[in-house]
Amino acid sequence: MADVTITPRANGPLMVQGDFKIVDAQGNEYSVSGDVVTLCRCGESSEKPFCDGSHRPAGFEASSEAR
Ligand code: FES
Repeated sequence: MADVTITPRANGPLMVQGDFKIVDAQGNEYSVSGDVVTLCRCGESSEKPFCDGSHRPAGFEASSEAR
């Protein structure tokens, strides 16, 4: 059983749930509270790598269904 679940939200971010840590390119850990975060996949967030809701006014569209 996986410890982490990553769910692409319809027309939105990647929702990460579980026991995880997020690090930058140098391996420094981001401070994250709780066991759920949303990661930007539209490229518009000013809080990258986290989603700040900018995908909505940007009109980001992406499928969220597994193929
Ligand atoms: S997915 Fe939400 S700001 Fe990019």
